Amino acid sequence: MAIFSSFYCLLATLVHLVLSLNVADPFLIDNGDKTFTIGNSLWNLTLNSQFGTKLLYKGHDLVGAASGHYVSYNGAANNLTFDVSPPRLQKLNSEYTSISFLAKEGLFVWVLSPTLSGAYQYFVNHNLPQLGEFRTLWRLDNSTFTHAWTSEIADYGVKEQIDGVPLVPLSQIRGSNSTKKVQDETWQRLDGSFITKYDLAAFLPVVEGRPSLWGTLGKLPGTNEGIGSWYIHGGKDYLNGDHLKQELMNHRESITGDTVQLNMIHGTHFQSISRDNFARGRTWGPFLWYLNNGSSADALAKAKEEMKLWPYQWMKDDNGFNSRGNISGQLSLDGNRPASNAAIFLGDNNSTLRTVNQGAGYYYRTYADHMGRFRIDNVRSGSYALQAWPNGGIIADVFTTFVRNDVVISANKHTALPALSWATQGRKKIWQIGELDRTGAGFNNSGPPHKHGRSANCPANLTYTVGTSGLRDWCFAMVKPGTWSIKFGILSGEITSAAVLSLALASFTSGVVATISINEKSVCEISQATAGEGDPSLYRSGTLAGDWRLVQCKIAKGLLREDQNSIDFKIKQQEREHEWTNSDPKIGNVMSLRGFMWDSIALEWDN
Ligand SMILES: *[C@@H]1O[C@H](CO)[C@@H](O)[C@H](O)[C@H]1NC(C)=O
Ligand SMILES: *[C@@H]1O[C@H](CO)[C@@H](O)[C@H](O)[C@H]1NC(C)=O
Ligand SMILES: *[C@@H]1O[C@H](CO)[C@@H](O)[C@H](O)[C@H]1NC(C)=O
Ligand SMILES: *[C@@H]1O[C@H](CO)[C@@H](O)[C@H](O)[C@H]1NC(C)=O
Ligand SMILES: *[C@@H]1O[C@H](CO)[C@@H](O)[C@H](O)[C@H]1NC(C)=O
Ligand SMILES: *[C@@H]1O[C@H](CO)[C@@H](O)[C@H](O)[C@H]1NC(C)=O
Ligand SMILES: *[C@@H]1O[C@H](CO)[C@@H](O)[C@H](O)[C@H]1NC(C)=O
Ligand SMILES: *[C@@H]1O[C@H](CO)[C@@H](O)[C@H](O)[C@H]1NC(C)=O
Ligand SMILES: *[C@@H]1O[C@H](CO)[C@@H](O)[C@H](O)[C@H]1NC(C)=O
Ligand SMILES: *[C@@H]1O[C@H](CO)[C@@H](O)[C@H](O)[C@H]1NC(C)=O
Repeated sequence: MAIFSSFYCLLATLVHLVLSLNVADPFLIDNGDKTFTIGNSLWNLTLNSQFGTKLLYKGHDLVGAASGHYVSYNGAANNLTFDVSPPRLQKLNSEYTSISFLAKEGLFVWVLSPTLSGAYQYFVNHNLPQLGEFRTLWRLDNSTFTHAWTSEIADYGVKEQIDGVPLVPLSQIRGSNSTKKVQDETWQRLDGSFITKYDLAAFLPVVEGRPSLWGTLGKLPGTNEGIGSWYIHGGKDYLNGDHLKQELMNHRESITGDTVQLNMIHGTHFQSISRDNFARGRTWGPFLWYLNNGSSADALAKAKEEMKLWPYQWMKDDNGFNSRGNISGQLSLDGNRPASNAAIFLGDNNSTLRTVNQGAGYYYRTYADHMGRFRIDNVRSGSYALQAWPNGGIIADVFTTFVRNDVVISANKHTALPALSWATQGRKKIWQIGELDRTGAGFNNSGPPHKHGRSANCPANLTYTVGTSGLRDWCFAMVKPGTWSIKFGILSGEITSAAVLSLALASFTSGVVATISINEKSVCEISQATAGEGDPSLYRSGTLAGDWRLVQCKIAKGLLREDQNSIDFKIKQQEREHEWTNSDPKIGNVMSLRGFMWDSIALEWDN
């Protein structure tokens, strides 16, 4: 008896040992009521067919009354609905376990480890419809998560860099007579200031080698303990757009008051058109959702670690995730001048879309060095086009874009491109205002952070005199009806040919028409016909860039004068903001924020 009981005792201890070792492993519990609980010893989440509704961490429910976690496309119109038969749990290696949820559109996978505070997520397309917006998101408890942190935090104060920017309370948006809705998700207070979700947008850090993270922060209720929920993208190739891709990140949900942490893995908020059809197997992620104590320094360190681990070794995939190669090259202008610091983009082969609007495939963004050399590692095998454009500096007067189609990347191969020659416009400069870099950097009022209505600080009338005015004498955006003039002289005998006026616009709003005249003779216009489909960046808090385009006008020889000339820009037609027809004298601002944002203007001899 004694022998048996000690045998059973030993057995029980062994079983207990095995169980306690397993306790640390990630788990999937079928709750028997069409809900499941996933997690590890640090956190757990209970999900139904659409929403992760209860997120337990350190004994607190971080979702509370909010909507929780879900995946959706085309705004709130389509929330993915997952099969409620048990999701599949698979051990990937000694560390990682995947838990897959199947929807008719594709497979959504969580990847957990015993010690990871958070989880990786990825989505494999089966049959998503053509779409513009595709996202995963958390709608979290708003008494816990009170602040937002983005890559633009450095442009706020020191306190914000630590705590984040406070989210505007719902009470200031709804049920208040002191604000009035002026535009989509935008309200104006009596003092003239604005509340808008677009102010917390930021450039998605998508450039290779740069940490990519944002989050929402606060304190665990009833404690002084910090909490942070972050999205970290160790890889960036599944995100749409080019170097200047910007998106919404965190905001106050304006109906319910939830704290929203968005992960716009395919977004269109600052682009003209970006609707894509996706191949079966097109994969987004894995990206990391990460919980910590609210320290941005810790999250930043984590983001740097994730970049080093990308592409993740544990990823088991039939869709080419592990089939990658490297590419390098060197670009020179007209074959004789290094394309110093040029923006380098590897995107869709033979595409007619502007780079910021490409999104069906996989994308790689980097900058060349001072000699025009570049290298991108871990590119998914396939066909690409390589594009390059100036990013300011000594090549900031190149108005052409380099395009090389049919670039092939093969698995486990290094593609060393032959010397690449980028043909410039080859014209002689008369003058140029601003550097070509696809942004309004340097001009008056431009630059981060995103801010609604900043363009209204630009004057209606402005005069810039070539030779004496500086960059700050030109404003970043023209939105007010009025005239902006550039005055310049031409020396006697210099007029031997026609000239070309190049207008590089960092953003342009549809419906705006501006006339351009030289010495009071109309020469061309900025309009949808010349600039293409507009983008919403200017009225969605854009202060630096949007969807870049180039308008060029030929100026006949006879229109130029020796001595004094004037080029005038005049807004001729412009729509008011959607609902911005406020006649309340207390609010009173009936201006439009539609117009165009400048990148660079140049006049050159057309020889
Ligand atoms: C989920 O986490 C909470 C603590 O935050 C814990 O009390 C609970 O037992 C966990 N649930 C499971 C199924 O492990
Ligand atoms: C998707 O979920 C959100 C959050 O609960 C909700 O507001 C929206 O109405 C849902 N969409 C549909 C079509 O049910
Ligand atoms: C939080 O959400 C509740 C509704 O659940 C809302 O009444 C409240 O105003 C919100 N809090 C803030 C600070 O916006
Ligand atoms: C808000 O304005 C409406 C109409 O102007 C008025 O009926 C209402 O009493 C006001 N509410 C508050 C809280 O002032
Ligand atoms: C968060 O934890 C880190 C260590 O992981 C520590 O250095 C930091 O001081 C903590 N920050 C806060 C705000 O609690
Ligand atoms: C591919 O692009 C090149 C240059 O942009 C163009 O000349 C060619 O016609 C395109 N090919 C096809 C098949 O569209
Ligand atoms: C690039 O696209 C064009 C047009 O579709 C096609 O003809 C060409 O074969 C493609 N190049 C490669 C390398 O796939
Ligand atoms: C590609 O680059 C990666 C990362 O630098 C490196 O580990 C790998 O060996 C390279 N592959 C080839 C084929 O050069
Ligand atoms: C801009 O100039 C025009 C023409 O001189 C003038 O009528 C208008 O009042 C000016 N606008 C402002 C805001 O000064
Ligand atoms: C520069 O911006 C300030 C306001 O920020 C404005 O008062 C001034 O008129 C602007 N000047 C020009 C040339 O844009």
